[in-house]
Amino acid sequence: MKRIILTAILALAALSASAQTLVVYYSRTGQNYTSDGIVNLKEGNTAVVARQIQKLTGADIFQLETVRQYAAEYYECTREAQEELNAKARPALKADIDITKYDTIYLGWPCWWGTYPMCVATFLEAHEWTGKTVIPFSTHEGSGFGSALRDLKAAIPTATVKKGLSIQGSKVKTAGKQIERFVGDK
Ligand SMILES: Cc1cc2nc3c(=O)[nH]c(=O)nc-3n(C[C@H](O)[C@H](O)[C@H](O)COP(=O)(O)O)c2cc1C
Repeated sequence: MKRIILTAILALAALSASAQTLVVYYSRTGQNYTSDGIVNLKEGNTAVVARQIQKLTGADIFQLETVRQYAAEYYECTREAQEELNAKARPALKADIDITKYDTIYLGWPCWWGTYPMCVATFLEAHEWTGKTVIPFSTHEGSGFGSALRDLKAAIPTATVKKGLSIQGSKVKTAGKQIERFVGDK
């Protein structure tokens, strides 16, 4: 009996030691639209948020990148993105990450046409989500999450999707406190 209890305790300890967090995000550099006009981003807005979450959590971090790059020019990129959305495209990723060992995953994207970019769908469909806790974050320029949370829950119905954070892209550099509160709440 003692032996069984000890084994159970060790198994539980191993489980909690293996509890790990990952930040996964897609973000685009190049021209982008803000209420002040077109800007040229060297680091994407979602990447700024992802970096801060990583710093606060000490999590591993992974950036989704597509094999085919989107246009740097803003309007051309919106056209490409709309085409992909309409076609339910699943753009290929340059690399992927094995998420098996992570139980909590912060998942971030820029709002594109009211939802997440199609490469995020590529990522979602490539993995098993049962038992994972997903914490969404997004940047946008007016739409908030749009339909993305609904789309996310439908795509990974066996995961627990927590309350997310959406931040206006052009304000990410001053959103530090908001991001701290968001991470602190989890
Ligand atoms: C292709 C494309 C589509 C976009 N669609 C929307 C949209 O539907 N609603 C919105 O609020 N912002 C939209 N935006 C603005 C981005 O969501 C916003 O600038 C975001 O912060 C960009 O993040 P990133 O720099 O990480 O890529 C769009 C931007 C692009 C490039």
